[in-house]
Amino acid sequence: MAGIYIHIPFCLQKCNYCNFFSVPDLSLKDLYCQALCKEMLLRKDYLNSNKISTLYFGGGTPSLLSAQQIENIITSAQSCFNFSSDAEITLEANPNCLTNNYLYDLSHTSINRLSIGIESFFDENLQILGRIHTARQAEEALQLSDKHGFKNISIDLMYGYPLLNKQQWSANLEKVKYIPHLSCYCLHLEPYSPMYQSIKSGKYTLPDESEILEQYQILKKFMQKYNFSHYEISNFCQNNCFSKHNLSYWQNEPYLGLGTAAHSFNLYSRQWNLCDIALYINELNKIKYPSQWENQKGILFDSEQLTPQMQFNEYIMTSLRTQWGCDLNFIETRFTGAVDYLQKNVKKLHPDLYLMDANTLSLTEKGFLLADRIACELFVEKEMSFIEEK
Ligand SMILES: C[S@@+](CC[C@H](N)C(=O)[O-])C[C@H]1O[C@@H](n2cnc3c(N)ncnc32)[C@H](O)[C@@H]1O
Ligand code: SF4
Repeated sequence: MAGIYIHIPFCLQKCNYCNFFSVPDLSLKDLYCQALCKEMLLRKDYLNSNKISTLYFGGGTPSLLSAQQIENIITSAQSCFNFSSDAEITLEANPNCLTNNYLYDLSHTSINRLSIGIESFFDENLQILGRIHTARQAEEALQLSDKHGFKNISIDLMYGYPLLNKQQWSANLEKVKYIPHLSCYCLHLEPYSPMYQSIKSGKYTLPDESEILEQYQILKKFMQKYNFSHYEISNFCQNNCFSKHNLSYWQNEPYLGLGTAAHSFNLYSRQWNLCDIALYINELNKIKYPSQWENQKGILFDSEQLTPQMQFNEYIMTSLRTQWGCDLNFIETRFTGAVDYLQKNVKKLHPDLYLMDANTLSLTEKGFLLADRIACELFVEKEMSFIEEK
């Protein structure tokens, strides 16, 4: 199985906290969509004949594309790649875009999952975050999505940011208890973002660690109460409605990233596309014949080969973030000496933080909170060359 990610780098306005690559200028949107179709044609062999289980429009704000543009891109992808019949096709959408007419049009495309960036149902929170939508639009977007038959829905909520109080956080969660999939992100303060500047200037104060921990405990209790499985640090679902797309990242499957700033991974190397919309379009326009691709592709992306050590470390980093943890049998088949290494090194950790049996190493709920730090403890350093690829 494999996945495709398509980056749409346009937003109506930049949110105060966000560092994703996107610009608040839609003038190149149409040309960009054409360039995307060209890129996928040129890179159609990247995933070999792997079946595509997921196609994901991320951003930026993909819901700024018209339904027709979205369908054209999906049709091009279907003609270039080998899609499985039950492929998940997700559109990230902002609530202000999800009007009755737009959802009607979308329901006639192949999009079968929406990931809606709601963040909060309180206008005062939305203003601090610099979101363009209102609380009312958030509520309406949910009702209208349901009306137009979108049942496979994910919602993004944020916590751990200035002036969000525990009552608001609990109320936000209560509103989404019927949604099958939730992504709940603690604010990551991006250096030089407007939020960072507001905190530096003293306009806002970040909640302290104990407040963030309390918000996290509220989240955990809520998820337990409503039977959500906590399958990745920031991701929760009911009735096994996992995001196939997220799973493909965390389970070490290959993926192709199309569009500016998109990353691709084929198990042995990584590639990342340039972050310049005009250059992306121009460079692709210059390619008139597929044979010109070889000379041109160096401008579109950079790449790095992953050494066995890097592959091992990436697998540890991503798999420990999930409820399934890291599969020791998989490690055994891929890397010499790695299971012995893990079995010895894991003893450095406090026993409350992990569970290990003959097949799996996973983190406890306590360990989840420290997942990145724990992964770093288990990383193999360059000079530890006993880990070889098999
Ligand atoms: C790729 S963004 C884009 C989705 C869509 N454009 C939107 O904002 O509705 C996906 C989610 O990442 C989260 N996010 C973005 N920047 C973040 C940050 N600095 N800290 C925590 N969460 C963040 C937000 O919840 C956002 O909805
Ligand atoms: S959070 Fe979403 S809408 Fe806001 S700037 Fe980032 S990508 Fe755009």
